[in-house]
Amino acid sequence: MHQLWFPTSLLFGEGSLAVLAERLPALGKNALLVTGGTATASMPAVTAIRDMLSESGGDCIHFAEVKADPDVETVERGAELGASEGVELVIGLGGGSPLDAAKTIAARLTNPGPASAFFGTGNIAQPPLPLVCIPTTSGTGSEATQIAVLTDTANHRKMSVLSPLLYPALSIVDPELAASMSPALTAATGADALTHAVESYVTVGAWEMTRGWSFRAVSFIASYLARAFQDGSDREARHHLALASTLAGMAFSNSGLGLAHALAHPLGALFGVAHGVANAVLLPAVMEFNLTEVPEAYREIALLFGSNAAGLPPREAAGRAVQAVRDLFAALQLPATISACGVRKEHIPLLASEAMLNERLRASNPRTSNLEQITMIYRDCL
Ligand SMILES: [Fe+2]
Repeated sequence: MHQLWFPTSLLFGEGSLAVLAERLPALGKNALLVTGGTATASMPAVTAIRDMLSESGGDCIHFAEVKADPDVETVERGAELGASEGVELVIGLGGGSPLDAAKTIAARLTNPGPASAFFGTGNIAQPPLPLVCIPTTSGTGSEATQIAVLTDTANHRKMSVLSPLLYPALSIVDPELAASMSPALTAATGADALTHAVESYVTVGAWEMTRGWSFRAVSFIASYLARAFQDGSDREARHHLALASTLAGMAFSNSGLGLAHALAHPLGALFGVAHGVANAVLLPAVMEFNLTEVPEAYREIALLFGSNAAGLPPREAAGRAVQAVRDLFAALQLPATISACGVRKEHIPLLASEAMLNERLRASNPRTSNLEQITMIYRDCL
């Protein structure tokens, strides 16, 4: 038996942000708007959301304090502000960090804290306040998942919160909001989306429904990510990357992720490596590791990248997928090694022992792993 979750009402398309006005009466009047503190907070979308709330007779309380890899303390501050202002809904606007913060703030406003009590699976008891997620990057897919990742600062760990209650009530994916991303941010967020798509395509929980979403996401990224990197104003590329990011989120929220994410989280928590960059460094090595288990799936991925894999023996054809991913990341000028991210050989035992603790992601990876193998993958990435 398989189970599929997607309870979110999702609007997709250029200009779809404006439709928020029509949906507000059903969601609530006074909103906590959760954003990052710099680029996102000054986006025209912030003004547009404020205006829509005010025209519907509500107030906009702006919490613009979310930094990259948000921690529990940030969520607590946001929830405190929301509670003191009596907000009725939460709107997250930005990349994965503001969206994940918004998700957990909405949950904290109806559940006792601290937010660290949510770590793990199924630890949110009461439905959160109505939540709207509006991504301004094409990477995290958080607008389409039942997952939020928070940093546990005391233990230097990235912790996942999983609950079907974290699906937003409404998500608005307007590709125009991602058009202002720099080439570097386009590359890093695109690498995250590709990692979601590739990993969710081969997890032990993948099945026909989720694989359809993953497959389409890989195909769009293969066709459009380099284009958006070269020309940020390429509307067709931005459109398809926004689709890919959301599709990959829908997929991995149901089928899970794998070792690239298990190994990326310690790089982020201990060395501050941006999540998409960490995935870019690790994905090819993890694909090599998994290659013997899922050669047919990787052969299909190679074909999506236009590699000439037809007629080759399965493992060789699958190897073309790994090469295609390496080539794409090189074209995007992403680092190819963990050394380039400040990691040295002597750090690997700590990274590997931290990655081993992520039993959920290790269990969903198509190939089982032990400490020695995880150590080897990090070494391959040095
Ligand atoms: Fe990710």
